[in-house]
Amino acid sequence: MTTTPGTGDADAAARPAPLRTRVTEKLGVDYPIVQAPMGWIARSQLASAVSEAGGLGIIETSSGQLDEIRVEIVKMRDLTSRPFGVNIAQLFVRDPSIVEFVVEQGVKFVTTSAGDPTRFTAQLKAAGLTVFHVVPTLAAALKAVDAGVDGLVVEGGEGGGFKNPRDVATMVLLPLVASKVDVPIIAAGGITDGRSMAAAFALGAEGVQMGTRMVSAAESPVHHNWKQAIVDARETDTVFLNRFSKPGLRALRTERTTRLEREEHVGMSEFGSSMDLYFGGDMEASLALGGQVVGRIEEVLPVRQVIESTMTEFRECARSFAAFA
Ligand SMILES: Cc1cc2nc3c(=O)[nH]c(=O)nc-3n(C[C@H](O)[C@H](O)[C@H](O)COP(=O)(O)O)c2cc1C
Repeated sequence: MTTTPGTGDADAAARPAPLRTRVTEKLGVDYPIVQAPMGWIARSQLASAVSEAGGLGIIETSSGQLDEIRVEIVKMRDLTSRPFGVNIAQLFVRDPSIVEFVVEQGVKFVTTSAGDPTRFTAQLKAAGLTVFHVVPTLAAALKAVDAGVDGLVVEGGEGGGFKNPRDVATMVLLPLVASKVDVPIIAAGGITDGRSMAAAFALGAEGVQMGTRMVSAAESPVHHNWKQAIVDARETDTVFLNRFSKPGLRALRTERTTRLEREEHVGMSEFGSSMDLYFGGDMEASLALGGQVVGRIEEVLPVRQVIESTMTEFRECARSFAAFA
C-alpha cells in the first residue's frame, strides 16, 4: 500500500510512512497493528478508529450478540472504507453457522481463537477469506499450520483475556514458534508501543495485536473507570484465574479477582454483571480482563496517536539496532 492513512486532512503528510510486511500485504493495511477482538468492546466505534488510522480494526463475536454484530458491521462500512476483520472466538460461539454469518458479511479477514483450527479453516478459506488462528503454544501453532491457516496470532500469557492455564510469555513463545513455521506471525501479549513492537519483530513477528492498550484508548466504549484503572495499575496488578482449571484468564486486580485468585475453579458466573463493569464503571461487578502491560500504560490516548507514535518509535528502535550490526 502506498496511500496515506485517513487521507483528506491537513496532518496526512506528517503521518508515518506505511510499512510493508507479509501481514500488511495480507490485510491490505498501512501499518501491521491489529486491534484485538474483545467482547462488547471491539465494535464499530473502536474498530473504525483503528482502521481509519491505518491499522486493522476487528469486530468481536464473543459476546454472542450476532444481531448487534451484524449492525456493527454495517456501521463499519459507513465509518471507514478501509479493511477490517472479524474474530470467531470458538469457546463462545459454538454454532457452526457462524462461518456463514461471517462470510455473508463480506468480511475478508478472520481470526479464529480459543478452539480447534481444523474446525472452520477450510470452510473460511474456501469462501475466500484470509484466516489467522490464535495460538498459545508451539503444538497449537503447528496444528493450525497443518490446518492450512494463512498466518498465526501468537499470544503470550502476559496478555489480557482468556488464556491457556499453562501460559508462556511472548518472549519465549514468539521466537520458538517463529523458528518452526513459515507463515506470517502477528504477536500478541504485552505490546503497547513502538519499543514492544520492535521487540516482537526482533523475535520473529511481522505484525502486532494490542488488546489492553485498545481497551484504554479514547475511542474504546468502556466506562472511564476501567480506563483509569488501567492507567493506575502497576505491572503486578493483574491476576491469573483458573491456573489449575478452565478457562484460564488474566484480569485486572480488584477485590473480586484477588479473592478469586486463590479459588480452585472460577466459573463463568463470576463474570456477574459484566455490563455494570463495562459500561457502568463498577469495577467490582465483574472481571476486567487485562494484561500485565497495564503497568506500561500511563495515559488514555486516541487510537490514531497510539498507532502513529507506535510506528514512529518502532522505526527509531529499528534504526538504533543498526548501530549494533
Ligand atoms: C477485555 C479483553 C477481551 C478479550 N476478548 C477476546 C476475544 O473475544 N477473542 C480473542 O481472540 N481474544 C480476546 N482477548 C485477547 C486479545 O485478543 C489479545 O490477544 C490480548 O489482549 C493481547 O494481550 P495484551 O492485552 O497484552 O495486549 C481479550 C482481551 C481483553 C483485554
